[in-house]
Amino acid sequence: MKVLVTGGTGFIGSHTIVELYAAGMDVVNVDNLSNSEAFINDRVNAITGKHSTFINADITNEDNLRNIFRNHSIDAVIHFAAFKSVNESVEKPLEYYKNNIGATITLLKIMDEFKVTQLVFSSSCTVYGQPDELPVTEDSPIKEAATPYGYTKQVCEQIIMDFAHANAGFYSVILRYFNPVGAHNSGTIGELPRGVPNNLGPYITQTAAGIREVLKIFGNDYDTPDGTCVRDFIHVCDLAKAHVAALQKLIKEKPTQSVLVYNVGTGKGNTVLEVVKAFEKATGISVNYTITGRREGDIEKIWANAAKAEKELHWKAERSLEEAMLHAWLWEKNYRNIL
Ligand code: NAD
Ligand code: WQD
Repeated sequence: MKVLVTGGTGFIGSHTIVELYAAGMDVVNVDNLSNSEAFINDRVNAITGKHSTFINADITNEDNLRNIFRNHSIDAVIHFAAFKSVNESVEKPLEYYKNNIGATITLLKIMDEFKVTQLVFSSSCTVYGQPDELPVTEDSPIKEAATPYGYTKQVCEQIIMDFAHANAGFYSVILRYFNPVGAHNSGTIGELPRGVPNNLGPYITQTAAGIREVLKIFGNDYDTPDGTCVRDFIHVCDLAKAHVAALQKLIKEKPTQSVLVYNVGTGKGNTVLEVVKAFEKATGISVNYTITGRREGDIEKIWANAAKAEKELHWKAERSLEEAMLHAWLWEKNYRNIL
């Protein structure tokens, strides 16, 4: 089983490649390193003891993808490659539409040319906006997208569904990730944000490492147990394993529907302050934080109902928030050479 992983040098892709090898699969990774570093591939090889094929190429280019499919016998694709910064997407909507939607269209076209019929797609809980009822199920309403980034996920889901409808024999699993945190327990791969992090996990570890002076917690006047926002934080290695489960579903069972959608979360909500406390408990390091005003566009609370993935993919999150925080810290220390 040879899996083409797009964006496999990135945060979630690199952890997924580790799990694909652990499950006995072979990997071709295509990534243009627009938001990742090539050394991550060496680290993945060191963890797995394998040598994944790495191709540095932009997948919005048809010929690049065509060459890959021509030169490798690809059985299935996991499509991570996308731009992912919510804020940046507001500043540069055309780049986001071009890259995220363009790459998905090009990929489907070339998969069709080479008769590759199995796709796992990275979607996001952002498609739900602020849900009316919690936890969210896969049938919860899709809300009007708050940002171009969120809209690219909604559009790509629709494109995949329309493509599957038009092409009998094509199957896809769409995974809606909640908030990935943590890192591989070796501390040798992890999240590598460029510049000032937007996301909570790397902001916490960078503050603990002294790179950021203070973590600003955006608002403590929400209708939540301690007033800070609630999210479903999932260890990236648990999330990575969900991709293996999704592929196995496509390979071993003939799914009853051509497109299957799953929430990938823990099923539990934690507040921002609880995440800080989990980090402090796991590492023994106190985080310098301050409460500031709300961040524009933040939703108050969301967490997953992950029962469908457990029932149909035989997958559930196993690692705790504290483990995720410890592993994220091991990665930050390793990357910064902190003893
Ligand atoms: P990431 O930026 O770390 O990884 C994405 C990788 O794709 C990067 O290595 C980047 O260089 C590559 N890439 C981007 N455009 C490309 C192109 N045109 N051609 C080739 N490579 C390209 O992001 P991540 O956190 O690993 O996210 C992976 C996927 O999961 C993305 O689709 C993202 O939208 C989605 N997602 C992420 C989160 C999150 O919080 N991290 C949550 C929900 C969904
Ligand atoms: C989490 C919580 C912040 C930073 C985003 C995307 C979503 C998905 C995951 C891709 C919020 C608070 C954060 C900080 C803080 N990505 N926070 N201080 O906003 O839930 O989701 O990433 O699909 O689409 O929107 O994640 O990590 O930015 O924030 O207080 O410095 O942490 O207010 O409540 P978010 P996040």
